[in-house]
Order: sequence, then structure tokens, then C-alpha cells
Amino acid sequence: MNAPALQTQLAAAPAPELSLAEMLKPREKELLRFLTCGSVDDGKSTLIGRLLYDSKLIFEDQLATLEKDSKRHGTTGEDIDFALLVDGLEAEREQGITIDVAYRFFSTARRSFIVADTPGHEQYTRNMATGASTADLAVLMIDARKGVLVQTKRHATICSLLGIRHIVVAVNKIDLTGFDKTVFDKIVQDIAAFTANLGFASVTPIPMSARYGDNVSSRSARIDWYDGPSLIEHLEGIDIASNAVKKPFRFPVQWVNRPNLDFRGFSGTLASGSIRSGDSVTVAASGKTSVVTRIVTQDGDLDEAVAGDAVTLTLADEIDAARGDVLSLATERPEVADQFAAHLIWMSEDALLPGRSYMMRIGTKFVPAAVTSIKHKIDVNTQEHLAAKTLQLNEIGVVNVSTSVPVALDAYAEIRETGAFILIDRSTNQTAAAGMVDFALRRATNIHRQSLIIDKLARSALKHQKSAIVWFTGLSGSGKSTIANLVEAELSHAGHHTMLLDGDNVRHGLNRDLGFSDADRVENIRRVGEVAKLFVESGTIVLCSFISPFEAERALVRSLVDPSEFVEIFVDTPIEDCIKRDPKGLYAKALAGQIKHFTGVTSPYERPENAEIVLKTPGHSAAELAQTVMKALRERGLLEHQDVWGL
Ligand code: ADX
Repeated sequence: MNAPALQTQLAAAPAPELSLAEMLKPREKELLRFLTCGSVDDGKSTLIGRLLYDSKLIFEDQLATLEKDSKRHGTTGEDIDFALLVDGLEAEREQGITIDVAYRFFSTARRSFIVADTPGHEQYTRNMATGASTADLAVLMIDARKGVLVQTKRHATICSLLGIRHIVVAVNKIDLTGFDKTVFDKIVQDIAAFTANLGFASVTPIPMSARYGDNVSSRSARIDWYDGPSLIEHLEGIDIASNAVKKPFRFPVQWVNRPNLDFRGFSGTLASGSIRSGDSVTVAASGKTSVVTRIVTQDGDLDEAVAGDAVTLTLADEIDAARGDVLSLATERPEVADQFAAHLIWMSEDALLPGRSYMMRIGTKFVPAAVTSIKHKIDVNTQEHLAAKTLQLNEIGVVNVSTSVPVALDAYAEIRETGAFILIDRSTNQTAAAGMVDFALRRATNIHRQSLIIDKLARSALKHQKSAIVWFTGLSGSGKSTIANLVEAELSHAGHHTMLLDGDNVRHGLNRDLGFSDADRVENIRRVGEVAKLFVESGTIVLCSFISPFEAERALVRSLVDPSEFVEIFVDTPIEDCIKRDPKGLYAKALAGQIKHFTGVTSPYERPENAEIVLKTPGHSAAELAQTVMKALRERGLLEHQDVWGL
């Protein structure tokens, strides 16, 4: 399709016959997607306004509107051809979280453009990364008077990570320097030094004044010492021919289409490559192979589909695949791994905590995932590697990620579409990070679960009981350990096999290397959770007494065993009472500033919302509270002696 046709279609909005998915197809060579990076004052908005104005064809409609319209008019269905990160954010948008990326469209005689307009404040790296994830080129805005800033370097680094190959350095407001060539030359030099190792295919500096239009659409006579192209000339001429079509075929299944018993197809959008009917395809996770019989679209069957096409594939055999599975050619499969190395751009106010469970979205798959280690973070100023225990807002790190089940993935450098992922904070549903897969880690693939003759059921049957985790959470000095102790004594006297794990004790051995930072507390509970799970496997009732201040980690431990095997007991003692009791004298020290990160004083405690048992302690003795727990455990059927082998 040529550019004028595209314009005609867009002019017909809000009922475009041309679907957004088609409009954004990577194979549209006429279409250039770019984003502008810079802060508010660098003149980003002015430049975009100028481009729209100069192109004379002003379509101020944001693509979001078109997208809504195209959905409403039913031409695109639910399949919108935005790349992974935007898709992830779409999901957020549905949940009512707004992301400020406006996609604007304009065109010239030679090419059509979509520019992602992202807010420029430093804290909005997240928006920038969203825009960058689908862009072919980035315009880095620099105020000629200020030169290269840390923010410029951060943006350049992110662009490089996100696989943007072409950079335009817009040295703006050059009029305010009196069109000074030396200012421009200095910036060109700084940029060249900085970008030397970022792997861009082209870095093109252009001196301009967005405000007055110098070197935006046409070359400026006022900058006679510059003989390169204007911005528009450069954008029109640059060769960005997308190679997504030339990459191996990847088809993340969006849904299984089964309108009636006679038809079963897999619907989705080709992330990369192409497919013809008759080709052999494999479901990555299961390794099952079949042959494509039909490529169905709303406009009839195709012989071949390419990256960007939304299609339904039918196969010769009834093989299993579900939403989130990836189809590939049998001969060119993606990696399937549950551990991999990746770059992360951290986008949340809440720091990354290794060990914490996040929801990962890769392709169409959602899977729980944790960062198992941070190898280093990157100083965006110098590209140096720095040691790090956590990543803060806007920081970039190299990490290992582990997922709860194996997922199909590719190195981002090979296939951008299936190598990008996002991490979502499970409590706020916000995107916490954008990630790029570096490589799958083989390590885990060589370790298989050994199947054992004696299992949990057999072990608990021998002990005539059901095993479980009884988890006490609450402030230091709330009485958890005292109550847990009494409950264990009761259980033991009644003939139950028990174990008690207590914060102070475990921190003398297994967790002696951990302190009280948020990250260490996450790891403390993660390890204790794994140990508690082993006790459940052994048929034991394990009582755990830990402050466990974060909901996320309590939820993690809960998820490790069957729902009936986890009982959370919130020992709800007002902090004033804990301070009054202060059994170890720690509150006194914490209040005097002698202990850092003390729970309830200088470190948070997230009150449980899903506890099975809440013990309001004021006015009750520990013995009474222990009886309350016993009664509740009995009522939950946890204390029945099992006299029959449950095998
Ligand atoms: S948790 O937060 O990681 O779950 P845990 O239950 O293992 O904590 O350990 C808490 C115990 O460590 C407290 O009962 C207290 O005796 C001791 N402690 C020492 N320093 C701190 C601190 N900064 N915050 C909380 N507890 C501390």
C-alpha cells in the first residue's frame, strides 16, 4: 500500500476501513515509527507540533482514538499490532491505569510517520520505554545551551537496549547560541564518544530550531555551516526496512478459536517471520508438531502470512496449545527455559527486591517470575558496571530471572518481539520493569525432579496427621513466638509431629547472612517458605513465627503448598503495647536511633488482609490465645488423626 492510500484511509476515521493492525504492519516500508526523547524544556512538543504543522496533513487524532474506533467498528477485533511492551500496557489501561504515550500520525509525500510522544520528566522513563519498544528510530532532543545531560545518556542507553538502531540527535535552540558552530561541534563530539559502544547503526546530529522551523522540514539558510539533511529529509530517506519478516516464525497464541466442533484454530498475530500452509509447526513448550492446514483471516484464507498479520491457524492434528504458547517452525524453535539472563529497566517507585514474585508477561503468556540475582547495574553516565543489591526507579541492571514454569523465549538481540517482557507488581498491577532477554540459562534444564517412592501422603499417613504450615505474622514483641510455642506444646501433647521455625533462631543458622533491609527480609521469608514446604512434604505440622512484614512474601509462601495446608495467623498487637512490653529492649534502641530499619518504627509492616485467624491480643493471655488457635485449627479439620493409610 502506498502512502496516499494510507492517508485516505486515515482521513476516513473514525470508521477506517484499514485496521490499525494493518496500518502498523512491519512490512509497510513507507511507515517510519519513531519517538522523541528529551525533557519538557528541550522543545520536544514544539518539534512535534512543528512536524505536524509542516507536514500540512495534520491528523491530530491520537492512534488511541483510532484504535478504540477500529475496535468499536469491529474491523480489527481484539488483535492490535503493538509490540509486546505496549500490549502489556494495554492490559494495564484496561485496569484503569493511564499511561501517557500519545501516538501521532503525519505524512509527507514520501513516507508516513507515527511518532510516540512521551512525557519528558525524568520519572517517566517508563513512558519513554513504552514508546521506544515499537520505534525504528529515536530523536534525542538536546538543548544546545545545555549540551549532553545525564538524561540524554539514559535515554540513549534505553534506546540501545530496546533495539532502536537509528538515532537523530536534534541539537535544538541553536538560534539561542547565535547559530554557533562550535557549540554544535562540541555536542557532536560528546555524543560520538558516548554512543561509540551502544551499537547504533546510525547517529545523525542535526542543528535546528524547532520553534522557527530551521532544519526541520527544509534546510535553513541561517545555519549555512551545516550541509547535512533537514530532519524530515533524513526521516524520509533513512532505510529502516523492518526485518521482522525475515526472522524465524514466532506465533504467540492469543486464544484457541473453537466456534463449533468442526473448527479448531489458534488465533494471534505473527510476532516475526512468515508461515505458509503446509509448513510443519511445533508448540514450543510441549514439542508437539503438526502441519498448518489453513491460514484463516476475516477476508478469507491466505497462502502465506507474515509478521504483523492477525490470523487463525488450523493444524492437521488435534495438538494441545493454549493462550501463551508459542508456535514456531519445527526446524527453528525458540528456547524454552525457566531461567534466563536479562537486562531490566526498573520503572517502579518500589525498588526491585530479588526473590520477590512478580507477574511476568512475555508474548501472550503471564507467568510468576522472580529475579534470582542482580549481576550488576549500569551507570548510564559512564556505562560502567556497578555492584547492586537492588534496582531503584530508572536504574538499569543485568539480572537472572527464574519463572515458575518454562516459557518460550528468544534473545532480544535475535527477535525483539519474543525477547521482550515486562514485570508487573502483583499487588498494584503496575508495570515494574521492562526486560530484554539476553540468553536462556542451561543450568536448570539439566536438573530434573526425581520421582520418589514415598510421598507427602505416605509420610503424613505414617504420622497419622495432615501436614500444614501454621504461619504467625506480626510486629516484633507482638507475642507471636510465645503463642506459637504454646500451640506447639499443645499439638505435641496431642500426639502430633511438629516443628517450630522462629525468626531469631533461623537467623542464627540458615539465614545468618541476612540483615533487615527490605531485600534481606524478602530472602529471609523466601528461604523459610522453602524450608516450611519441605516440612509439609515430610508430613509435619510446621509452625513459623516471623515478622514477615510484606504481603507479597506471605502470599509467596502460601502459594508453595496446597490452599488447605496454609493457615495464616495475624498476631495483631498495637505497636504501643509492643513498645511497652519491649521484651528484648529493641524498641527502646530503635526509637533512640540505634537500630536501623526497625519494623513498625523505621521499616513498614503491611497488615495482612487474608489471614485465616486474627488474634486481637489486648486483654488476653498467651494461653487463651493459644487455645483460640487450637480451636480454629480443629475447626479447619487440621487436627484430625488420620488412622487409615491415605494411599
Ligand atoms: S523478618 O522481618 O525478616 O520476618 P524475623 O522474624 O526473621 O524478621 O526476625 C525478627 C527478629 O529479629 C525480631 O523479633 C527481633 O528480635 C530481631 N530484630 C533485630 N533487628 C531487627 C529489626 N531491625 N527489625 C525487626 N526485627 C529485628
